[in-house]
Amino acid sequence: ETATSSDRKVIQKDQHTWDIIESAFLTNDFLCQLEKQQMDEMIESMHQVDVPADSIVIRQGDHGSLLYVLEDGKLQVTKDNRLLRIMDAPCVFGELAILYHCERTASVKALTPCRLWAIERSIFHSIMVNSAKTKHDSL
Ligand code: CMP
Repeated sequence: ETATSSDRKVIQKDQHTWDIIESAFLTNDFLCQLEKQQMDEMIESMHQVDVPADSIVIRQGDHGSLLYVLEDGKLQVTKDNRLLRIMDAPCVFGELAILYHCERTASVKALTPCRLWAIERSIFHSIMVNSAKTKHDSL
């Protein structure tokens, strides 16, 4: 781990993992619109979370603080105990509470052991704000 000027931690990743996280971002309607530098900073900041089968990763109604990418494994999304979707890698999930400051809209459970990458809400937002500021300052 190394630190940047703003003390954001950079967590090293191999190229394969980087590519999977990036392809997951690109499948998301909001995240695919990020500038390359923002996306790179977000990917750099993500930390690994490995969970066993049957773990509840997100609980509907909770206050959310992490946005996740699924690198490997299979997840189930349910709302009010009804199945919404089975998600395969690569994909982004848990983005709604982070982007829109709402409660978790659904529950997400691992159906298999899953390798996840997560970014904190505060880091996500500071990358958004900082690069918006840099852009503004350079006008
Ligand atoms: P969030 O609300 O933060 O936490 C639960 C996550 O489940 C949500 O973000 C989405 O990533 C995902 N999710 C919610 N509704 C659906 C749906 N209808 N289909 C697929 N994924 C969903």
